[in-house]
Amino acid sequence: MSLADLLKKRVELYWAHLKTNDPFNRALLNGTATQAMANHFLVNVRYLVQQTPIHLRKATAKAEKNGEEKLAKFFKLKCREEQGHDRWADSDIAKVNQRRIIESNSEIDPSMKGLVKHIESIIDYDPVHYLAYIFFAEYLCVVAGFEMAEAWEKKCGFPPNSMSVISNHAELDQHHVHEWVDITRDLLDEDKYKAPLLETVEETIKVHQQFYQSCWQGKSHAA
Ligand SMILES: [Fe+2]
Repeated sequence: MSLADLLKKRVELYWAHLKTNDPFNRALLNGTATQAMANHFLVNVRYLVQQTPIHLRKATAKAEKNGEEKLAKFFKLKCREEQGHDRWADSDIAKVNQRRIIESNSEIDPSMKGLVKHIESIIDYDPVHYLAYIFFAEYLCVVAGFEMAEAWEKKCGFPPNSMSVISNHAELDQHHVHEWVDITRDLLDEDKYKAPLLETVEETIKVHQQFYQSCWQGKSHAA
C-alpha cells in the first residue's frame, strides 16, 4: 500500500476513535457542546492556523539548507495558499460570542502550545516529516470537518457558518487529497520514509488528542 493510502487509513481510524471516545467530539456530534467549549476550540485553532505560514517558512528554509529544492518549492507554494486563514477563525469567534452569554476566554491552552512545539520539532528534525503532519492536518479536516461543522450548527445551535475555519479548510483540502500520492512519490523515497512518517503521525495523534481533552475541560471551567 502507498504511503498516502496508509496515512489516509490512519487518519480515518483516528476520526473513528474521536467520534466514539473523545468527550469533546462526542459532545459536538450529539449537540451538547457549550459556548465555552466552542470558544476554547476556535481561539486555539486560530492560534494554530496563525502559526502555519511561520512553520512553512521554517520548513522552506530547512529544506533549502538540506539541498531539497523540490521540497522547498512545495512548502513555498503552500505558504502562499495559507495566508489569512486565521481571519476565518476571527469571524467564527465573533459569531459564537455575539450574544456575550459568557466572558470569552482568549488564552492559548498549554496543549495547543504543546502541539505547536511538536510541529516545530518535526521541522527541526527533518522537513520531510512535516509533510506527514500537513497530510494529517489536511485530511483530518476533510474526514471530520463537514460532519463537525454540520453538528456545530444543526445540533449545538451555534450561528450559521461559525465554524468556517474548519469547513473552509475541508472544502479546500478535499481537492488536495488526491494529489498526495503524487506528492509523496515526487518528494520522498517511500521505502526510506514510510515507517518513520507513519511514526510521526502516531506521535502527532498523541499530542493532538490532548488539545481535544482541553476543549472538553474548557466546559467545566466556564460552568
Ligand atoms: Fe489554512
